[in-house]
Amino acid sequence: MTNLRTCVFPCAGFGTRFFPATKVIPKEMLPLVDKPIIQYGIEEALASGFDKIVVISSKGKDAILDHFDRTSELERSLKERSKQDLLDAVDAVSRMVDIIAVRQKEALGLGHAVLSAADAVGREPFAVVLPDDVILAEEPCLLQMRRVFEETGRPVVALMEVSPEETSRYGIVGGEMAGGRRFRIRDMVEKPKQNAPSKLAIIGRYILPPDIFPLIQKTEKGAGGEIQLTDALRALVDEGDFYGYIFEGKRYDAGEKLGYLKATVDYALRHPDLGPDFRRYLDSIHG
Ligand code: G1P
Repeated sequence: MTNLRTCVFPCAGFGTRFFPATKVIPKEMLPLVDKPIIQYGIEEALASGFDKIVVISSKGKDAILDHFDRTSELERSLKERSKQDLLDAVDAVSRMVDIIAVRQKEALGLGHAVLSAADAVGREPFAVVLPDDVILAEEPCLLQMRRVFEETGRPVVALMEVSPEETSRYGIVGGEMAGGRRFRIRDMVEKPKQNAPSKLAIIGRYILPPDIFPLIQKTEKGAGGEIQLTDALRALVDEGDFYGYIFEGKRYDAGEKLGYLKATVDYALRHPDLGPDFRRYLDSIHG
């Protein structure tokens, strides 16, 4: 086993793709059925053996931290009214995790957000989860990736095939398959406008060495005028083996309206209490 236990959640973005819903409410706090989006990512990290959770937040994002905190008044009121099941549900969330919160003071891009976690991470390898990327999988995506890291000791990013029209929306990798679902990465481009090196897109799960921090520090502004994590990762590719892992599971972009709706439908259909009734409802409107 390695000392891979820290997971960083960049949550400082404005959520413009979901305006006006996310004008005041952090996009990470929109509910996916009965849990906020961020909770799916946190549960995935915990289930994959990560116990040190770092949230990069910004002004207006305190609700994320409050959600995982104790709510004494609410707990007292539920206790007085003997609402034990509700109390258990609330209690489970506040006991779930202790969060280290770091503020990103300026929205300078994903690379910059990850860099602001450097002190909290220290000199250990760590994971990054982009909470907008919700992944429904038998085995948590991060756990699938952890295995590659533990076997190779090298950086790993999650990969998914996208259509040629979509490559300009993602970090795209070049390289070759390296056995099973592994891909040996030789190149990486953030949101290529043309000549994408493949159709394999980076999805928001990364396992990285601390050596990435000085590389981010040296990274100039890239696509969209932001300090891009992908550009720093590209520099890391030159320093040794770098793997992609074509994960098993279905990914939703819950940070935009259509992706969020698809995730809501699929998660609701799988919900133990709501699923059957919801399925009947969908059947009834389907004609
Ligand atoms: C970010 C990354 C990109 C990656 C994507 C996955 O982009 O910069 O490389 O493919 O997440 O969701 P964003 O969606 O923040 O523009």
